[in-house]
Amino acid sequence: MNQAAYTRLFSPLRLDGLRLKNRITMAPLYLGYAAQGGKVSPLLLSHYRLMARSGAALVVVENASITPGGSGGTRTIRVDHNRCLQQLRWLSDAVKEEGALSALQINHAGRFARVNDPVAPSAVPVFDRTPRALLRREIKTIGKQFASAAWRVREAGFDLVELHGGTGYLLSQFVSPRTNLRDDIYGGSLENRMRFPLEVVKRVKDTVGDMPVGYRFLADEWLPDGIGLEESRVFAGALEEAGVAYLSVMGGTYESFFLPEVVERSRKPGYMAPLAETVRREVSVPVIAAGRISTPSLAESILEKGQADLIGLARMLWVDPDWVNKAREGRDASIVKCSPKCNACMELVMQGKPAYCPKWRKEKRTEYRAMFY
Ligand SMILES: Cc1cc2nc3c(=O)[nH]c(=O)nc-3n(C[C@H](O)[C@H](O)[C@H](O)COP(=O)(O)O)c2cc1C
Repeated sequence: MNQAAYTRLFSPLRLDGLRLKNRITMAPLYLGYAAQGGKVSPLLLSHYRLMARSGAALVVVENASITPGGSGGTRTIRVDHNRCLQQLRWLSDAVKEEGALSALQINHAGRFARVNDPVAPSAVPVFDRTPRALLRREIKTIGKQFASAAWRVREAGFDLVELHGGTGYLLSQFVSPRTNLRDDIYGGSLENRMRFPLEVVKRVKDTVGDMPVGYRFLADEWLPDGIGLEESRVFAGALEEAGVAYLSVMGGTYESFFLPEVVERSRKPGYMAPLAETVRREVSVPVIAAGRISTPSLAESILEKGQADLIGLARMLWVDPDWVNKAREGRDASIVKCSPKCNACMELVMQGKPAYCPKWRKEKRTEYRAMFY
């Protein structure tokens, strides 16, 4: 197949006043490339330059923490202070200079934060720790921190900001009936559980004006007592009403990613496309589908079947930054594929180490390793 065959994949899309040159986006992918302390490092810059040069229309830079108390780790990019602005500008410049639109994902990790005193909607234990339940005034403060962080994203020159409502982090912890056991206006009914993320969207939108605000959307926790499509589709509609520019759909959290049935499911090509499809039926804003979309023909068929408006490539683009060019030129067979049985990148970053891909040729691995510390 050649480009003519992938007419949908290479067709432009208008997104809240921005023009995406094709339907390919880089989905956020934390690889531990920032320096200790969350500083923008030469490796991080060269990585994002490469991702933007790939030809993807939009690069969504990995999660950045809105407050030190909500950080995912010591190599998580920071967006919590005006001191971070200059470094964030280098990052947005790197992406834009290579011809892609740039977004930064902003996050509070809540009960998954790697800090001494993690906070969450409720004190529900996770792994070997129990987070502290947030006070009402702290919830308000975090809402303001999201807004300040979004303001910095705009100041730093990014085209969009993405709120991280996925992976089981704080925003999704509020929506989930298993992690939100509050009995105030933020807990109980779905309406109450959606309240905080919707307040955050409103605050952020009021702050950034006409800059589009995207949302990483947890459609299904893949846990028996967690959020599922029945409730998440209602939440999707509410987010659209609140004015999000797109929904980037995902499934699973750190508590389900390693369950045998989820591991098995996640090895399948396009494993999150059915979630995106259900969400897309509820909303009219563009929907992004990600998850082992390893071939251009699969990407094209997801668009053709109406499962999504945009394709999200995370590991797929990192493993082979030529994915887009190869698709355009009909060189599909030469695309280097992420191996479904390999989880090296996730394992490395969970140990706090920068990731490299075993599929890379030796020289590239050596080049990256040389820049690690
Ligand atoms: C190592 C690793 C880091 C990730 N980091 C993020 C992140 O910072 N934010 C986010 O929303 N999703 C993150 N994801 C999820 C990806 O965006 C994506 O949904 C998932 O990897 C499936 O797409 P892929 O098969 O193209 O990698 C991460 C996934 C992996 C494996």
